Amino acid sequence: MATGNSLSTFGAGKVILLGEHSVVYGHPALAGPLSQGVKARGVPAKKCQLVLPSTLSRAQRTLLLGAFNRAAKLVGEPPVKVSLDPELPLAVGLGSSAALSVACARMLLLAAGKAPSSKEAARLAWAMEQEFHGTPSGVDHTTSAEEQLLLYRKQPGASSVGKGKTVDSPRALKVVVALAGERSPTKKTVAALRQRQARWPERYQRIFKEMGKLASEGAKAVEAGDLEALGDAMNVNQGLLSALGLSSTPLEEMVYRLRSLGALGAKLTGAGGDGGAVVGLFTDPESAVVQLTRQGVRCFSSQLAGPRAL
Ligand code: MEV
Repeated sequence: MATGNSLSTFGAGKVILLGEHSVVYGHPALAGPLSQGVKARGVPAKKCQLVLPSTLSRAQRTLLLGAFNRAAKLVGEPPVKVSLDPELPLAVGLGSSAALSVACARMLLLAAGKAPSSKEAARLAWAMEQEFHGTPSGVDHTTSAEEQLLLYRKQPGASSVGKGKTVDSPRALKVVVALAGERSPTKKTVAALRQRQARWPERYQRIFKEMGKLASEGAKAVEAGDLEALGDAMNVNQGLLSALGLSSTPLEEMVYRLRSLGALGAKLTGAGGDGGAVVGLFTDPESAVVQLTRQGVRCFSSQLAGPRAL
């Protein structure tokens, strides 16, 4: 969008309902876009540059600049000065790096006079995501760029991106996202799981396969409007994530708290580990948000798909 001389773009955060981690090994995952994300603002400049918040550490600055410069080169470094406005909690498993990548990708495309279609934005954001995460499955930036509930599957090959199939929901798909504990970096959690699965491949592949099946069943449940079946798949998925060593006391406690507040299903979302985000499926998310906020929990609600109230 252009306002006067400046441009603004948006990249949505994401929430994985089913299939994080197993998606890295080629199984499907069900993920949807959050209404919260990262906004980028661009103004004409002499050269292509990213303005970084002063609060970032040296390592974070290097990483962000490396990712931005890689994407900028791919579109001929258009002369634009880009600043970022994240409205999403950062580094908690809600796809903030993907949201940032998509917002920057759209900005760079616009500044280069190209159409920022979801496909083009995803292609450019992928270059940034690889800098951030090494070998991500691609589910985060694809969901962010498409802004649709997707059944996503990575293509075979270590560094290849995958494809998402849109999942239509006849019912409003509403979630509460709550934060619990201190989160470990995604790269670290993914690498530790890779080591365990390399040691006991058959055992871990069995569980990954089951998680992929849950994601496919969950997508069918969404299309049939059966939120109870989706919630049950989420609860079972949480059990499997826990079996894989990806949950922790703060995450488990939050999962049970959301279930006791009426969640049809609740589980960790994103990489998991010592802490991070938990997602609960609710028919009435607002009353859960009120109660959690009263209890001092950082949380918010979002609708991932389905008809919206006017
Ligand atoms: C992170 O949001 C999701 C993971 O499955 C990693 C990935 O898909 O690249 C843990």
